[in-house]
Amino acid sequence: MSDVLEQTTFFKDVISGLQTMPKKLSSKYFYDQKGSEIFQRIMKMDAYYLPGCERFILENESKHIAQSITSENIQVIELGAGDGTKTSILLENLLAAGKKIEYYPMDISADILEFNQQRLSRQLPLLKVTPVAGDYHLTLNGLPQVEGTKLILFLGSNIGNFNPTEALAFLKFVKSCMNPGDHFLVAADLKKNPIQVLKAYSDPEGLTKKFNINLLDRINRELEADFDLDAFDHYATYNPLNGLAQSFLVSLKQQKVEIGGTSIPFASGEVIHTEISKKYDSDELRELMKSAGFIPKKMVYDTNRWYTLALGEAASSKGTG
Ligand code: AVI
Repeated sequence: MSDVLEQTTFFKDVISGLQTMPKKLSSKYFYDQKGSEIFQRIMKMDAYYLPGCERFILENESKHIAQSITSENIQVIELGAGDGTKTSILLENLLAAGKKIEYYPMDISADILEFNQQRLSRQLPLLKVTPVAGDYHLTLNGLPQVEGTKLILFLGSNIGNFNPTEALAFLKFVKSCMNPGDHFLVAADLKKNPIQVLKAYSDPEGLTKKFNINLLDRINRELEADFDLDAFDHYATYNPLNGLAQSFLVSLKQQKVEIGGTSIPFASGEVIHTEISKKYDSDELRELMKSAGFIPKKMVYDTNRWYTLALGEAASSKGTG
């Protein structure tokens, strides 16, 4: 294997994750081109209810969210914006409420941002869009200071893919990039009938299995590995007490896998932990926001209360610890 490949963070993370007990792989590596395509298909499945709930809330509550932000000038910054399809509903409502807005979609993928910008220029031709490609940990602090307030968006229930410690660290990081009075809008999936949740991650079509197995396929493609894709299955669990949906890949036999010259042994039935998708309850989310220095201002829901968008205002650093 080439030295260059060995130096990549992807290689290092994969090897250290598979040498840890229990074995783990980070869900952030799901999203290569093939994984992103499978995820687009997951988002259209009936069993995967999250995007439908989010769209419903944006369609029905964006007006109220817009009214909760008093500033006339708003710099709307979206973290992990993707193609921004649903965000345009909120942007339209902010414009309709007479706000002067500039939109900064941020994403690792420059291609998806290009697509996002082209669509918005047709849909909302007067909107100023400045795509920012790269890791938002590096780009969020470098935005121009403008008059008015920031509204930072973190949609898609992506907060659910952080464990509780990471979620708090992430919110504190976002807060550290804000001035008092700026706003943060975060989407979270909520606790509900556990049967419903489990179905979303253990879908009858087997797309979530494909999504997980693609991670092994990606490792084969990019890291000179020899995972036998038929020798692994996908297994999802949901614990309604702590709200954690978790995904695993299960080794169907005792086997050894070579990854760029490193051999990784698997026992029959051994699992690789691949993802958590945390479901919150409203109080828990409010407390999390407060701990990170936000004043919770508004929570809006779909009719079933399966999902929420929570708006917080950045408090002044004094008194928030
Ligand atoms: C991106 N993220 C919010 C999805 C979730 O629900 O945790 C990823 C996903 N994993 C399996 N299905 C969808």
